[in-house]
Amino acid sequence: MNAKFDELIGSFVDNEIGLCEHFLTKTLAKLLQQHLQELDNENRMLPAGIGNDIIKDPLQKKRGDRIFWLDKKTKNINELAFLDQIENFIEYLNKTCYTGINAYEFHYALYDAGTFYKRHRDQFKNNQDRKYTLISYLNDDWKDTDGGELIIYQAGKAGKILPTMQKAVFFRSSELEHEVSVSPRPRMSISGWLKSN
Ligand code: OGA
Ligand code: NI
Repeated sequence: MNAKFDELIGSFVDNEIGLCEHFLTKTLAKLLQQHLQELDNENRMLPAGIGNDIIKDPLQKKRGDRIFWLDKKTKNINELAFLDQIENFIEYLNKTCYTGINAYEFHYALYDAGTFYKRHRDQFKNNQDRKYTLISYLNDDWKDTDGGELIIYQAGKAGKILPTMQKAVFFRSSELEHEVSVSPRPRMSISGWLKSN
């Protein structure tokens, strides 16, 4: 497990964008994908905030994903295994990089076909608790012609990351602007933030 954490942290230290191709095992990624689909079937994936109730015109929306917050009180063993891995990562990060992370929040995200998340930063102006963003992807066979990429803007350049199964991306929430390009098919992930206050 530490080798995966080293891969994520090492690439973050080198390029500000941490990447680990196989952060989640294939089995866990598949089981989490199934759980997300079950939640959707039960109508528990709900539109994410940012004024969606005020702006009715979908083209003006900032984001079109539907989300479900993970919770340690869950009885789903796969969700618990995921949160366990996150806690181990935080412990490792704090030990190796003195980051002082003392909280976290994660949600499943489902982008229906045709939805996106416009260019943004993840830290709120009135609350700086979110220090690092960590996103894990749950999509089989994503092709580079599919769209729905994570686009990260860095020093005037836009880098594209495909949301493929098992992959994790890690970056500083206050710094990098990013967006999700229009997804031509359902796009599944777990987005989260490591926090300190
Ligand atoms: C977010 C976000 C990007 C992605 O949830 O804030 O930017 O690739 N997600 O899912
Ligand atoms: Ni974001």
